[in-house]
Amino acid sequence: MTICLIGFMGSGKTTIGRLLSEELGKSWIDLDSFVEQQYGQPIAEIFAKKGEGYFRMLETKALKCLLKQEIGIISTGGGVVEQPENRALLQKAYTVYLSYPVDTLYQRVQGDADRPLATSYEVFSQRYMKRLPLYEQCCQLQIFGEGKSPTQVTQDIIYFLEQERSL
Ligand code: S3P
Repeated sequence: MTICLIGFMGSGKTTIGRLLSEELGKSWIDLDSFVEQQYGQPIAEIFAKKGEGYFRMLETKALKCLLKQEIGIISTGGGVVEQPENRALLQKAYTVYLSYPVDTLYQRVQGDADRPLATSYEVFSQRYMKRLPLYEQCCQLQIFGEGKSPTQVTQDIIYFLEQERSL
């Protein structure tokens, strides 16, 4: 079953996805990178030229396509849970929510030109509040990452995966 990593911007979905793939020997793909490759433009440019709605449509198409390919691990983008269709897809995979306090996340991504939705703290924290219940709804496993290194977070996930396997 595909492991999908979800969580807000800055939660380390890409880093943890790569580490998990190394540890578990499974294939891994980053959903944002896949959208960029398929569409031929960086995410920030898609947002600027076509708007968020258009990006969300591409994101759903890409998620469906990757889930059909039986990729081992998919690192998603922070807003993937906004679409009900995506939430239904994530609920069928093994979805791991990487959870952090909003201030930690904002400090990590503040001013990042590649992240069109991280420009002001107000907008950032409003989205965070709106999405929290959606992440919780979609995930099979929630990992609290505050104060942990990427390696520790990866080991925590592996620990829980092993527990599930032995049940
Ligand atoms: C978004 C998060 C980004 C990217 C896009 C929209 C969001 O991915 O998909 O900018 O809505 O939170 P990261 O979570 O990897 O930053």
